[in-house]
Amino acid sequence: PPDTESHTVRGGVRTGTRAAIGARHLRSDRWWLAPAGTVAGLLAFVVYSTWRAFADADYYATPYVSPFYSPCLATRCQTMQAGPNADLFGSWWAISPAIIILIFPLGFRLTCYYYRKAYYRGFWMAPPACAVAEPHGKYTGETRFPLILQNIHRYFFYAALLVAGVLTYDTVLTFRDEHHRWGHMGLGTVVFLVNIVLIWAYTLSCHSCRHIVAGRLKHFSKHPVRYRAWQLISRMNARHMQLAWASLFSVALVDLYVYLVASGAFDDPRFF
Ligand code: FES
Repeated sequence: PPDTESHTVRGGVRTGTRAAIGARHLRSDRWWLAPAGTVAGLLAFVVYSTWRAFADADYYATPYVSPFYSPCLATRCQTMQAGPNADLFGSWWAISPAIIILIFPLGFRLTCYYYRKAYYRGFWMAPPACAVAEPHGKYTGETRFPLILQNIHRYFFYAALLVAGVLTYDTVLTFRDEHHRWGHMGLGTVVFLVNIVLIWAYTLSCHSCRHIVAGRLKHFSKHPVRYRAWQLISRMNARHMQLAWASLFSVALVDLYVYLVASGAFDDPRFF
């Protein structure tokens, strides 16, 4: 029975208060596809981003700076003239810039309402899918440490706004050539543009953002601008899952693009 104080449910789904069904579940569809896809997708991203974050190399190719390394805050950014970010933010640390900066987008995604659902199902199997019993004996939800820390999501949202701002700045600067003259456009510029649209769409479709914009208003009619913004965000919010995956994929793709150009494996085709 539920412990109302702590929201702990003891005994899981096999207790006497539940229907006595012998089968593990009664679903006949391929319910395991979604959690398996989540595990495969997130693991691939974690492996790739860890490799890139610790590589501490090939993250700048004029005028492109990898989003994993932006803003470029390490000493090395200054010495290798790692572009515009070094000018704007200076340099103050000697370790991989990615390790300094990735904590913010990582924290944002880790505490995201959609990703929580995805990895609770995929990795914790709590539960793996609707109407499929979880293997755990008790349930405490997000009422205890460490999962209670998921509540800091809205603060990560504010940090994510700053990060998106910096990535927007980087995208604008992809229109400059190596001599800092405006009018440059390469395939990289297009890749950056697509990515920044997806990053903003994912960030603004956040559930916390929707709540901050108009969540506690009692009278929409008294706040027409916030109501309009809330309507727009609500429409985007319905696609939050798709935007989460698309922006995760695009940010890794931009980094890969910069890596290929910076390492000399690929030449950035230039349109202007
Ligand atoms: Fe997904 Fe906020 S709920 S980013």
